[in-house]
Amino acid sequence: MAVFHSNFLVIGSGVAGLTCALKAADYGTVNLVTKKEEFESNTNYAQGGIAAVLDPLDCFESHIEDTLKAGAGLCHEDAVRVTVEHGPKVIEELRQWGAVFTQDHGRDSLELGREGGHSRRRIVHAKDLTGKEVERALLEQVHRHEKTRIFRHAMAVDLLVLDSPEPRCWGCIIWDDTWDELHFFTAGVTILATGGLGQIYLHTTNPSIATGDGVAMAYRQGVPIANMEFIQFHPTAFFCPGERTFLISEAVRGEGGILRTGDGEAFMERYHELKDLAPRDIVARAVDAEMKKRGDSNVFLDVRHIPQQEFAKRFPNITQHCRDHHLDLSRDMIPVVPAAHYSCGGILTGLWGETAIKGLFAAGEVACTGLHGANRLASNSILEAVVFGKRSVEFARREGLHEQSYPDNIIRSVRVQPKRDLERVRISHCQDELRRLMWDYVGIVRSEDRLNRARERLTTLRQEVTDYIEAGYTRGDLFDLRNMVEVAELVVACALSRKESRGLHYILEYPNTDDEHWKKDTIVKRDQRETPLLPGTDQ
Ligand code: FAD
Ligand code: SIN
Repeated sequence: MAVFHSNFLVIGSGVAGLTCALKAADYGTVNLVTKKEEFESNTNYAQGGIAAVLDPLDCFESHIEDTLKAGAGLCHEDAVRVTVEHGPKVIEELRQWGAVFTQDHGRDSLELGREGGHSRRRIVHAKDLTGKEVERALLEQVHRHEKTRIFRHAMAVDLLVLDSPEPRCWGCIIWDDTWDELHFFTAGVTILATGGLGQIYLHTTNPSIATGDGVAMAYRQGVPIANMEFIQFHPTAFFCPGERTFLISEAVRGEGGILRTGDGEAFMERYHELKDLAPRDIVARAVDAEMKKRGDSNVFLDVRHIPQQEFAKRFPNITQHCRDHHLDLSRDMIPVVPAAHYSCGGILTGLWGETAIKGLFAAGEVACTGLHGANRLASNSILEAVVFGKRSVEFARREGLHEQSYPDNIIRSVRVQPKRDLERVRISHCQDELRRLMWDYVGIVRSEDRLNRARERLTTLRQEVTDYIEAGYTRGDLFDLRNMVEVAELVVACALSRKESRGLHYILEYPNTDDEHWKKDTIVKRDQRETPLLPGTDQ
């Protein structure tokens, strides 16, 4: 086991982690660890764009109002204001870092797209490859910075936390997936930027890294976790069974795409006055209801009336994907289904990304800053990741946390036994079972009975995973699985505790919103911190 020390340890190389690393490098050394290749992240697949008030006819109050409306009464207004008011600056900064966004040449300004729930055009984008462009630009900057060091295939397993005189985080235990070794990464400041958890669902727009690791690690150390019941399902993932899910951006509906059933009915007219541009939860539930009612495997997105050249110019990536699947968009409609997309809940933070443990911060999708409430407004998350990434570093620097050095006993507090092999099939079986269970029982429309049954099944899965870990098995996919089971349990626990329907949480027994009792966050917290449950560790 080796020890790597830096002033800042950043976990994750999506937009949140890269922003943190770039900002932190102004104040000290930065180690950035990332689970797979450095570009592999939810960020890299973002299509629609970044919401920001840039149109002279737009205003902060309007963006704030749209965010609050989508959030269904649970947004923290201070977090909304901080995020929205930083929008124009974030776009400027991303451009200074080298991101190139699509221009509106006629007006000599950035082209602004439209998405559901936004009352104005305010989505800055790089065609339909916004995330890839942001990721490219930030990675290039980080590579140039001599104070930052990136460790690939380095998976954070457990946080290093000491209790006295108060809980203080001093870094993380890292699994090196290339050499099958565990290492200590110590730091005065640790920032969790591990992204989402879509992989706990059978159908998801998220890549394989999205297994809820940051939330699970923080939960194990007693950090409060909030609003895990609010899982956002994107209504329009390309329907192609057996293939990795591909998103058809909401921006397609923003530019006139219409959802239709197989027999051609534009059904959103029956569900909401904004039709296809209704908030995402309403569209996803409508698609789910239509599919269930008709017994159809999918619905369709119709873009046949949009001039094809214009469409291909605005959405080259989506056009190519459809071509690859032999669709002629002037004749054929695009088959789509809902898929798990975004976690609105996560590690509860303050307005500066700070968590309940000193020295530990969270930024990006892993965090619950209060911005999204019960439902995230489209294209608010990349913005949030940059704003709170920067603020986390700023807060840590102001407090001088990065200059504090770790106590010697943090390293002696963990002992690792030799690893042993475990059949791959056991892990993949548990993963498959978990993902189907969550899809079938904890999906878009919930019921108490299904949630209770999911809870029981998850307890069995958890026991199996714990047995393997306690027996000393060590491997990355087992650590993934442990986190997936833990965050799935948190989603179910939060969903069971909320006795109403609100935003993304819809439960048959309580179909109405109950402001009198439930206009509050759902917070879950372990009473006792778990000592790092490393393979065969013995404290
Ligand atoms: P990510 O970008 O997911 O990065 C997480 C990083 O953490 C990855 O590098 C991962 O490898 C690493 N990691 C995870 N666990 C560990 C571990 N244990 N150890 C080490 N490293 C770890 N939002 C918008 O605002 N606009 C959009 O248009 C938009 N479109 C989207 C389209 C798709 C298909 C998807 C999936 C999401 C979209 N979103 C969009 C949401 C948005 O992309 C994400 O919420 C945001 O990019 C998250 O950034 P992040 O840095 O928090 O996490
Ligand atoms: C999309 O392009 O539809 C995704 C936008 C988002 O998730 O914010």
